[in-house]
Formats: sequence, C-alpha cells, structure tokens
Amino acid sequence: MNKLINSIDTNADGWDGPGGPQDLFFTKDETFRYPRIVRTDDIYLYEDNGNQLIDISSGPVASNLGHNNQRVVKAIQDQVAKLPFVTNRTGRTNENIELAAKLAALAGEGFERSFYVSGGSEAVETAIQFARQWAWANGETERTKLFSLLPSYHGGTVAALALSGDEAVEPIYKDMAVMPERISAPLSYRPLEGLTHEQNEDRILRRFEDRVNELGSEKCLAIFLEPVGGLASGCNVLSQRFVKGVREVCDRHGMMMIFDEVMSGAGRTGAFLTAHYHPEAKPDLVVLAKGIGSGYIPLGIMLAPASKVDRLRELTGFNYGHTSNTNPLACAVGIATIEELTTRNLIKNAADTGAYLEERLWALAETVPVIGDVRGLGFLLAPEIVCDRHNKTIFSAEAKAPDTLRQLGFDHGLSIYARRTNNGKYGDWIMTSPPLTTTRNQVDEMIDRLDQTFRAFVDRMTVEGHRIG
Ligand SMILES: Cc1ncc(COP(=O)(O)O)c(C=O)c1O
Repeated sequence: MNKLINSIDTNADGWDGPGGPQDLFFTKDETFRYPRIVRTDDIYLYEDNGNQLIDISSGPVASNLGHNNQRVVKAIQDQVAKLPFVTNRTGRTNENIELAAKLAALAGEGFERSFYVSGGSEAVETAIQFARQWAWANGETERTKLFSLLPSYHGGTVAALALSGDEAVEPIYKDMAVMPERISAPLSYRPLEGLTHEQNEDRILRRFEDRVNELGSEKCLAIFLEPVGGLASGCNVLSQRFVKGVREVCDRHGMMMIFDEVMSGAGRTGAFLTAHYHPEAKPDLVVLAKGIGSGYIPLGIMLAPASKVDRLRELTGFNYGHTSNTNPLACAVGIATIEELTTRNLIKNAADTGAYLEERLWALAETVPVIGDVRGLGFLLAPEIVCDRHNKTIFSAEAKAPDTLRQLGFDHGLSIYARRTNNGKYGDWIMTSPPLTTTRNQVDEMIDRLDQTFRAFVDRMTVEGHRIG
C-alpha cells in the first residue's frame, strides 16, 4: 500500500495503478494541472505544496459561506452525534420542520412548502414531476410538454440534461430522453442581428406563445427559466419585462413557470430568491441547491405554494421519493447556512460587495482588451471573453479560452470555474462568483490576481497567433 501511495504522490499527470483521482474520467489533457487541495479556509484553498488559491467562483458556484465555516462544521458534528439519518416515510424530524419554517419565512408568500432532495438535478426532476402530477391529478392528462431556454443548464441526469439547452450534448441523448421545446434565451450582449434587446425579447415571447398555440395549450406543462444564468449563458440576467411576458403566456395557457435557482438562489444575487426581483411575475415553483447547502452537504430543495401542495395532497399526494429525501443531516446544514446568511447579513453583502466587484470588473475591462462584457447580479457575475470587442468575436476552439484562463488562474493564485459550453456558440466567460462572505479588500485581492491572469492570457494568445482587438 505504501508503495502505491508513494507512486501516487510522485505521479503528476498520468495514472498507471488502480484507483486514481476523479479527473481520470475527464478528457485527457496533459497541459492541464489539477492542484491537490488539502485544506480550505474562508475564500482560500491551499494546495499540498502550500500554494494559496482564492476560490473566486465558490467552486461550481456552491460555497456561498466560504470554507471551514465553524457554525456549519459544528452543526454537522452535533447532528451526526444526535440523528444522522431517518427516512421521511417512517418519521418526522425537528430538523426538517425547523428548516421548512425558516425557508418559508425567507421565501415568502407563494413558497410556503419545501421538498428536500440531494442536489440540483434531483430538485429539477422533482419540479418536473410535481408539475406533471399536478396536471394529472387535475384531469389535465395531456399536459407533458416542457419548455426551456437555449442556452441554459438544468442538471446532469438524463432528464435534466435534456431540459438543458446545450447543443453539444443534445445529439448524444436526444433519442433517449424526453426533449423539451427550446426557446431562444434573450442574451443581453448578443441580441438577434439588427434588433434591440427589447425587440429581441418581444420576438422570443411571440415565438414562445406561437409554439404553445401550435402544440395546443392542453399539451403544454411548464417552462423552466434561470432568472440569472450560470455557466451556460455567462450570467445572462432575465429582465423584469421578459419574465412578466413569460408569466402572461403561462397564465393564458394554464402552464407553470418554474425558476431554476440552483445557482442564483439562497442569497447569491442579493435577495434570498432571485424571484423576489420579480414581484409581478411570481414563479409557480422554485428550485434551490448549491448555496443552500453551501458545499458542505448535498442538498436540493423545491419550494412550492401551500395552495398547490395541500390540494395535491387531497387529490393524489405527491408521489416521489429517494432514500436521502429530507435527510436530517442535510437539513441541519440548511438551518446553519440560513443562520449564517441572516446573522451576518450576507445577502446584503452579496448585493453591496457584488456591485463593487462588478464595478471593479468593468474597470478591469478598460485595461484588458479581451473582456467584452460583464454581466450578472449580486455575487453571480461573469466577464465575457472576446478576441475582438468591436465585433464581439469569440476565440477559436483551439484557443480553449475558458480552460486557458482557468489554467493561468492557478499560476496567479486563483481557482476559476470555467469551461466552454454549447461549443462556444453563444460566447465564452469565466465565473466570478465568490463566497457571499467576501469583503471589499478581498475583492481588491481578486482583481489584482485577475489582472495578472488576464495579462498572461493576452500574452499567451498573442504568442499562439490569435488576433486580439
Ligand atoms: C441552474 C442549475 N440547475 C441545475 C443544476 C444541477 O445541479 P447539481 O449539479 O447539484 O445536480 C445546476 C448545476 O450547475 C445549475 O447551475
């Protein structure tokens, strides 16, 4: 065994022996370094060689409280010692009841009930099944058609991947999965040629309703929206008028509007739910994950109105479940996360310090010729990378722009979440979405490191012959 461990320690890239790290399942790329992280604290990750990295993206936009949060650590320790597991089919738990009360108070009217699963994809699946069972129980048995935006991301299971708007994965699964109807996302940086952003939004809304009419209202179930996008759209923000337009179409045709807030929820955008920015166009269901467990434990949640949950209960009940639903340990982490968010005023910090980060990113764009746009809300932000700002031209695939930035980030003290999505058709970006605990001084530290990373990127692109400007 010692021999194996020694060979593991000296083996930087390849892996000849059994076992091995998870990245052996990913695309082989000898130029890409996977740092071995041995310790974390606050916004910092530490490599085995002592190198410090700032977690500028909160991992995959999940570590909302930062790392090594002592309230959460203690909650986990106490809960494991007291009640790590009981299934919700055999008993109630105080942790479930307390978390549900806290969530209802923060989420507000229309989101009184919550259903607990193990992550974002499962929560999306839960919402699909809730919408379908609601229609079925109410005698609307033909309602099956789902709609989603292109580009978008809704998760990694076959159903959630099919729902996601990603043309790169579509050919692989389209014959196995129930494919949704795709509606163009209103990309603020790239409206359709010749149209203003608002004209483009109106065009998309008309197209949405036309398609519902073509299919027949009675067949249309729901539309999923990311109110602020993530890696699929580089934090594209849906406007109030667009969301209101979608709501109106849904109301006219008896469809549900479902917000996927796996990334944007739990305070990240400066409100507990991004839905709170849309008081005139409330979604029927909201899906949370990532930040509500803050990376400490897998936790996904569907928020639903009491009116629908209670009515469905009278009709058929909601028939859906996994072994780990409503896991008390996960609920304890959810409670501790909410306590941290509220006692430390972290949601307001996401709004205020997020605005400061956005301002500093725009200032960086003045000196870095490859930042074409900065988008997002609160601490859910992304600078878009272009090789020509005037024409908004995207780097060629060979440049591997997001991956190169990710790699160069390691050399300049940053851990960056980025990869090309949709084969780069809608643009390239990196996630600048730090923990909600981030201070203004830490933003300054991030910007210094980003500045160095982008300079190294421009140098690398120039040496490799990619035209900039
Ligand atoms: C908007 C959105 N929905 C769903 C998911 C899937 O969540 P999970 O990876 O926890 O299954 C993600 C993950 O990135 C996401 O960003």
